[in-house]
This record gives sequence, structure tokens and C-alpha cells, in this order.
Amino acid sequence: MRGKVDVVLGTFFGDEGKGKVIDYLSSSADASIRCTGGNNAGHTIVIGDKKYAFHLIPSGILNPDTYAIIGNGVVVDPKVLINEINSLKESNIDISKLVISDKAHVIMPYHIEFDAVYEDMRTGGNKIGTTKRGIGPTYADKMQRNGIRMEIFISDKFEDIARENFENNNKILKALGYEELDTEKYIKEYKEYAKVLKPYVRDTVNFIHNLLDDGRDIVCEGAQATLLDIDFGTYPYVTSSNPTIGGVCTGSGIGVKEIGNIYGVLKAYSSRVGAGPYITELNDETGDKIRELGHEYGTTTGRPRRCGWLDLVALKYAARINSLTGLAINHVDTIGKLEKIKLCVGYKYNGEIVTDYNTNIEFLNEWEAVYEEFDGNFGDISNCKSYEELPFKCQEYLNRIEEFVNIPIRFIGIGPGREDLIVR
Ligand code: GDP
Ligand code: IMO
Ligand code: MG
Repeated sequence: MRGKVDVVLGTFFGDEGKGKVIDYLSSSADASIRCTGGNNAGHTIVIGDKKYAFHLIPSGILNPDTYAIIGNGVVVDPKVLINEINSLKESNIDISKLVISDKAHVIMPYHIEFDAVYEDMRTGGNKIGTTKRGIGPTYADKMQRNGIRMEIFISDKFEDIARENFENNNKILKALGYEELDTEKYIKEYKEYAKVLKPYVRDTVNFIHNLLDDGRDIVCEGAQATLLDIDFGTYPYVTSSNPTIGGVCTGSGIGVKEIGNIYGVLKAYSSRVGAGPYITELNDETGDKIRELGHEYGTTTGRPRRCGWLDLVALKYAARINSLTGLAINHVDTIGKLEKIKLCVGYKYNGEIVTDYNTNIEFLNEWEAVYEEFDGNFGDISNCKSYEELPFKCQEYLNRIEEFVNIPIRFIGIGPGREDLIVR
């Protein structure tokens, strides 16, 4: 029988705790695949007192029997990837099952430079607050057909192509009044990176399909999230890829019919790092309290995350876009420390209550959230092993979420650790 494919996706603005859910699912999978994004992602997995932060390598690598595949839709910063490989090796993690798609695009120094330059040129509220990892310019070059794929990076064609790209980009930098990049220094440096990464590069499309033919199961590790999607997110305050379900197919070569479970990950509250509209944001003491209780500081950039209530209207939108079949809700322990909790169940707009999310910026800035209030103070839930063991107040909160979006909650996060996950 052909293997099955399960998918884990973010439903809001990222950092929902996807890493933890992937870690659980990949323990019984033969391969885990990153399909989109790059090292703008930061996925944390806590095992005992050890904390792993993954930016490029699929978290499935922690399982020695699971292939960790960087799919064709990912943009790869070779230096960051090599650092990640080295730090995993230092932690005695076996990385022999790492595989990098020959079609993944390389983040070059000029991409990182242009990420900063474009942010610099945007004024005031037009700044996106990118992670400055070169993600946008790399995807732009991919679409412009100026990109460098892994297959070129590791070949003897790299030097000439890279030199031409550096020279063209230096002309633009110079015209804009920025310093030019040292082409020869970087080419030398990047050729060394290519040598290190070459053994991991291969055609991942057939590799993945051959695994499925052999009855092997796969889990796809979403990065970023629905409201950061280049098409369906709060454009232009988004990332430059499709972190939604479509990106899983285009970023791996897996067809839609192969996909089984599609889990949408959320927190029992919400957060956003970077600029852009955020209807349920709390710019008050409660927001600060959630940030402190949930340790909401970026895994990638260390920036304090904006925090707010959970928005069920946006969750319903994520469920629609991604065909979600199940929910994974993390930080139930964190929200349970508040005395009162609110859930956004609609938006007030022009005197009407609407329950359909819309990423139109005018609407997003004018809509006002409509809340329902719930009792918090769940007490210590760290020893709960099943949904039924959770306190009634907690179940009431979770039931309302399930009821609103009509999708079952399959995973409940009750702490950061690997074992702090109730599977239902
Ligand atoms: P990702 O990008 O979606 O993988 O999420 P991040 O790793 O960026 O952020 C999630 C943070 O919440 C990490 O620090 C996790 O260790 C932590 N975390 C995940 N699930 C839970 C949970 O259920 N409870 C608590 N207290 N922390 C959690
Ligand atoms: P994970 O996978 C949270 C945000 C950035 C910025 C916007 C564009 O850990 O959930 P980019 O560098 O991608 O051009 O930045 O997207 N962003 C994330 N926010 N979690 C992420 O990934 C993110 N990846 C990008 O903060 O607002
Ligand atoms: Mg993250």
C-alpha cells in the first residue's frame, strides 16, 4: 500500500508551536519535508532540558529513522544550513538522513543585502518588519528566473552565474547609493559551502514518490502560516511564499490526492511578530501578561511578539484555505493562567456583525472584534493525559473553538516539552 502524507500548517501569523506537533508526528513517519520558506522560520522543540531551534532542517531529523528533506520550494541560506548541521552534530544528532532538493533556491549575500535595502527604503507604516534573512529577494529572483538552484550551486557553472549576478546587483546597489558587495570574496566563500552541501543534494521529487511507492509515511512541516501567505495573508505584511496547503504540493512535488490529514496549528491565544494588521491584538497589560507567560519572543530574531486573543473568524478562514481536517492547539497551559479569557467570534463592520475573514487592508483596519468571555484559572493541567481529564472550564473553552470552526481538536499542548501534548 502507498504511504500516506500528513501535513502540519500554521493558521495565524506563525510561531503556533508547529515544531512540537511535527516532532510528535515524525516519530512515526519515514520522512519529514519542509516545503516552503527558509530560515525566517524558527521551530522550537524541547526534549527534557534541551531546547532545539530549527530554521531550515526539518525537525524530523531528531528521529534517527526519519529522512529530513528540504523540498524544492524552500530557499536555502547555505551558511545557516551548515551552522545548523554542525550544531546538530555537536548534539550527537545523526544527520545522515538529511536530503536537499536540487531545485531549492540559494539565498545569496545580495539577497540578504536587498532585504535590508528594501526595508530601509520603505517609510513609516510601510515597513514590513521582515526577518532580514533575504527571503523576499530570493523568491523574487526565482520568479524573475535569476535564481541559483542547488543543482547549479554545486556544479562548476556556479562561479560564472554568480559573478554575473553579483555584478548586476552591484550596479543596482551603487545606483541606490549603497556599498557594493565583494564578488570574489563571496564566490570563494560560497564555493566552499557548496562542497560541504553537495553530498546531501539530490532529485527529491522522485525520491519522495519512491518512498510513497514503498509504503513509507511522510509528514510535511509547514513554516510560517496562513495569514503570512503571499496570496491569502495580510498583503503586503506577509512572507514571500505560500505557507498554505498549495505550497505543500508545489514545494515538494506531492500531488493533492496523496494528502491525508491536514492539521492546523494554533495557540490558545494569538501572536504576531513584524508589522501588519492584527485585529485581536492587545496593546495593554493583558497583552504584556500573555507575552511573559508564554515567553513570546521570536525564535529567529528575538523580537518581542505582539500578543492578543484567539480569533475564530481568522481560524475559520485558515480552515477554508487549507482544507484542515484537525486542529492542534498549543499553550492551553498558558491561557489557563489568566483569570478571564476572550475569544473573537465575529467582527463589527458598518453596524453589522460579520464572520468571514477578509484580508482587504481597509476592512482589517476598520473592523472591530466581537468577543465571548470564558473563565480561566484552569489550575495545574500539566499531568492531564486526556481531554476528559482537563478541567471543565478548559473543555468549555476548547469546545467553543471546535464548534465554531467545526473541526476536531486532535492535539492539545499543555507545556513546551515533547511529552506535554495530549493526543485525542
Ligand atoms: P513554530 O514556529 O510554530 O514551530 O513555533 P515556535 O517554536 O516559534 O514558538 C512556539 C513556542 O511555544 C516555543 O517556544 C515552544 O517551545 C512553545 N510551546 C509550544 N507548545 C507549547 C505549549 O503547549 N505550552 C507552552 N507553555 N509552550 C509551548
Ligand atoms: P515560523 O515558521 C513568525 C514574518 C516576519 C515578517 C514577515 C515577512 O517560525 O512560524 P520574511 O523575512 O519572511 O520576509 O518576513 O513574516 N515571519 C514570521 N513570523 N514566524 C515565522 O515562521 C515567520 N516567518 C516570517 O516577522 O513579519
Ligand atoms: Mg517560529
